[in-house]
Amino acid sequence: MIELPPVCDYEGSDYRTRFWEGQGRDYEDQVERIALRRLMPPAGDTLIEIGAGYGRLAHEYRGYGRVVLFDYSRSLLREAQAQLENDPRFIYVAGNWYTMPFVDGLFSTLVQIRTLHHAADAPALFYELARIARPQGCYVLEFANKKNLKAIARYWVGRQAWSPFSPEPVEFAALNFDFHPQWIRQQLLAVGFSPGRALTVSHYRFAPLKKLAPTSLLVTLDALAQHTGNWCQLSPSVFMQVTHPASGPTAVPPAFFACPTCKTPLDKPVDGRFTCPNPQCRQQWRVENGLYDFKEPV
Ligand SMILES: C[S@@+](CC[C@H](N)C(=O)[O-])C[C@H]1O[C@@H](n2cnc3c(N)ncnc32)[C@H](O)[C@@H]1O
Repeated sequence: MIELPPVCDYEGSDYRTRFWEGQGRDYEDQVERIALRRLMPPAGDTLIEIGAGYGRLAHEYRGYGRVVLFDYSRSLLREAQAQLENDPRFIYVAGNWYTMPFVDGLFSTLVQIRTLHHAADAPALFYELARIARPQGCYVLEFANKKNLKAIARYWVGRQAWSPFSPEPVEFAALNFDFHPQWIRQQLLAVGFSPGRALTVSHYRFAPLKKLAPTSLLVTLDALAQHTGNWCQLSPSVFMQVTHPASGPTAVPPAFFACPTCKTPLDKPVDGRFTCPNPQCRQQWRVENGLYDFKEPV
């Protein structure tokens, strides 16, 4: 068995109520939506959100025919499912982003927001995403920027040991990483993605300022400042519009799920189970109450 990188496990977490609802983060939520709308094609056939959590951003995908909400946490996906009720366009898939349970070239659009900071091995994740990306499609990636103004100031006055200018990721808390924009670009290029337009986001993420100024004003100012992202990135969050690899396979319907271990395409589940048809593998995966569960084999 190949050893996979460690995962930041949100199973059973109260992420929605502890971090978002009523927690004074309307500003962050609104500016992220603005950036997402600016970079993501508004409509398409198949979209996946990687690390979708409880589906905070799910309503942004209304122009898409099929939307996969993918996350390691079954409990957060159940919250998404309850929130979105019976909208048949949504597909809930639990699994690990280092071993995605999909056939090659499936998704026209990939979205990843507020999750890369949990990737202990971002190059391995990008490699897997390039495999499931349909050629010429669009990947909207958000990442936590280590070269932000606060980190630079702290470094210059000696209150932070690590340099915000060095390219390698910094693990500032267990399984929480900040990344240098240049390093991200290099890793994307290495697996065939083409990084393009960048937006800087959350310029005014500063608690005293958020208390003082109306949210609507900060959101308007941030929306203007986002455009500076193409020249320099000094905000804590960066959104990037990335084009999928130019060539490669395109999935042919009905092919959709694949064994996360050996990547053999899977037939429809029987009695709530997928069985990998590869005689060397034969692993089984559970489907329960609308949740496709690829976290571990049955
Ligand atoms: C901070 S939350 C962000 C959720 C959502 N993107 C949002 O902005 O509201 C990070 C999410 O990444 C997921 N995650 C972390 N590591 C993962 C992995 N290896 N595979 C799949 N999901 C993962 C967590 O379960 C969690 O839901």
